[in-house]
Amino acid sequence: MKHGFIGFGNLAKAIYLGLKNEVDIEFFYYARSKKDVDIKFCSTLEQLVLNADIIWLTVKPQDLSTVLEDLKKLDISGKTILTPVAGRSIDFIEKHLGKDQLIIRIMPNLAMAYKSSVTAFYSNHPENEKGEDVYNLLGKLGKVVKLEESAFDLFTSVFGSGPAFILAFIQIFKNKLKEFNLPGTLPDELLLELTRGTTLYFMENQKDYSIEELINNITSKGGTTQAGLEYFRSHEIGKHFEEVLNAARNRSEELSKNGS
Ligand SMILES: NC(=O)c1ccc[n+]([C@@H]2O[C@H](COP(=O)([O-])OP(=O)(O)OC[C@H]3O[C@@H](n4cnc5c(N)ncnc54)[C@H](OP(=O)(O)O)[C@@H]3O)[C@@H](O)[C@H]2O)c1
Repeated sequence: MKHGFIGFGNLAKAIYLGLKNEVDIEFFYYARSKKDVDIKFCSTLEQLVLNADIIWLTVKPQDLSTVLEDLKKLDISGKTILTPVAGRSIDFIEKHLGKDQLIIRIMPNLAMAYKSSVTAFYSNHPENEKGEDVYNLLGKLGKVVKLEESAFDLFTSVFGSGPAFILAFIQIFKNKLKEFNLPGTLPDELLLELTRGTTLYFMENQKDYSIEELINNITSKGGTTQAGLEYFRSHEIGKHFEEVLNAARNRSEELSKNGS
């Protein structure tokens, strides 16, 4: 299978790193300037389209219209268009490329590089088997879930922006650690182990226990965890945090409206 990236920035690089050891995949890219990467550079869009079966639209939302206008002048029949572009609907792309074109919209995150993305998937032609091939390929880069396109805004806030929100929480822990005066990178190393241990605890037990039960296992009556959780609950920290997700979702909806 031949994959062509239009634009080779952060996301295209993550996809390439995640897939580069797969057999039977060839990569090409076209961008405004040549990058320091060992895959084939196409100096024109035409060259990329000739080479690729799957065309990834890995450009920023504001650059998408220009790319689509150039793309529609070329013969892309039978090719799969794969778009991770945030806030740009299938309808938006169909307006440029037509409704017959197979277009797959996904919402991944950069953890594709470590095969640990959580990716939403939607195809405008679900009956087309080429879409299933893409779905199976994305499964090699983490978990992939088929969703209606209307769910992409909430999905983006939870799984697209989610890593930044979790890191913002870890930053609060790190600020607290300043009291210890630990040297160099040691605070980050300790926090990494804390999050890794918590993830493993969740992974090992999630089939048999709910999150609430897992929290209860760490909580003894009258103990430190209980004191912290009582503050967490009585000050409705969870409810406030939900507003963080709502703000991200609202922004995604706004961007979609402006762009479609
Ligand atoms: N990064 C993420 O975590 C993430 C997650 C989910 C979805 N996405 C989506 O993925 C897309 C790409 O994001 P990114 O973070 O990879 O962006 P990026 O790092 O800014 O990369 C964009 C690439 O597009 C190229 N480009 C811009 N205009 C072009 C044109 N007219 N023709 C050809 N190439 C052009 C740029 O080339 P030059 O460098 O040569 O200018 C650059 O290589 C975005 O739409 C974003 O919404 C990103």
